[in-house]
Amino acid sequence: MLPAHVTLVEVGPRDGLQNEVQPVATADKIELVRLLEHAGLGHIEVTSFVSPKWVPQMADASAVLAGVRAPGVRDARVRHSALVPNLKGLETALAGPRASWPDEIVVFTAASESFCQRNTHCSIDESLERFAPVVARARAEGLGVRGSISCALGCPYEGDVPPEAVARVAAGLKALGADHCGVSDTIGVGTARRVQAAMEAALRHFDVDAVSGHFHDTCGQALVNVYACLQMGVHTFDASVAGLGGCPYARGATGNVATEEVLYLLRGLGIDTGVDLDRLLDAASFISARLGRTVPSRAGRALLAAR
Ligand code: HMG
Ligand code: MG
Repeated sequence: MLPAHVTLVEVGPRDGLQNEVQPVATADKIELVRLLEHAGLGHIEVTSFVSPKWVPQMADASAVLAGVRAPGVRDARVRHSALVPNLKGLETALAGPRASWPDEIVVFTAASESFCQRNTHCSIDESLERFAPVVARARAEGLGVRGSISCALGCPYEGDVPPEAVARVAAGLKALGADHCGVSDTIGVGTARRVQAAMEAALRHFDVDAVSGHFHDTCGQALVNVYACLQMGVHTFDASVAGLGGCPYARGATGNVATEEVLYLLRGLGIDTGVDLDRLLDAASFISARLGRTVPSRAGRALLAAR
């Protein structure tokens, strides 16, 4: 039995754009989010409050969030999240009026020590210690807290990552009070059975309603990995419009699985998402044009050609 409904968390504006070297105008980021909302996406990772020295593309995080949540622009049905690596990031996210705060923050660590060091300059245990006051403050303010575990399948520096490493970090996130655990294949090397084992490791500590898959598509396995998780009853997946993205600390890894490809799969399976594929293609075309390329996903190209 596959789930009847799937929640797609659109991460293109964050995971997608963070990896783009060419600057993208703040107004274009806001327009991208608007188009995604128009397509029916109800949960969007809008930006990240990380160090602009390390990820310059996200330096306009406050302006983007304020823009998408401005009166007359904001769609109150949509949940906006933002990545927050530390207390400084949370303070910046909460510096403006409450209406411009994210609904939810995402704290991110890794199942591999080397990646955690490269990405956030600390060990896994230190990252969890760093998150403790962040999660406590976010909770006190009534914000949701998602945790994300990078390199849950493989690490660019250490190779294969065992499920036990995922379970250990999932336990740490649970102990902190995160209400959600994302299992992330940062470099897109997982295959179906291994992805199921990594997800099972997270499910030792989180309910099936509180886990999600975040699959980069480097080796072309992401859709199969989504299907493998659907078979386990998992019903929340991150995806990135036009397959944008990657991580600046995972050289060679490609973007997330394209939202339009996941939607094409789910639609074919009769699984409801509330997202309109045609409107989603408008968002894919818009951002691809802004980046000076054609829509790279196969479903996106085929469906646009057939228009
Ligand atoms: P650090 O350099 O170790 O920290 O950064 P620090 O506390 O020593 O601070 C150094 C400087 O950064 C200081 O400024 C701080 O003020 C500043 P200076 O005195 O040199 O002028 N700083 C900040 N500025 C703005 N916002 C902040 C902030 N914190 C410190 N929040 C830190 C540690 C984690 C902040 C840094 O390493 C960083 O920002 N890394 C970026 C990590 C990142 O964005 N990675 C990509 C996102 S994660 C991802 O893509 C994976 C995911 O998609 C899942 C998957 O696929 O695996 C989620
Ligand atoms: Mg990612």
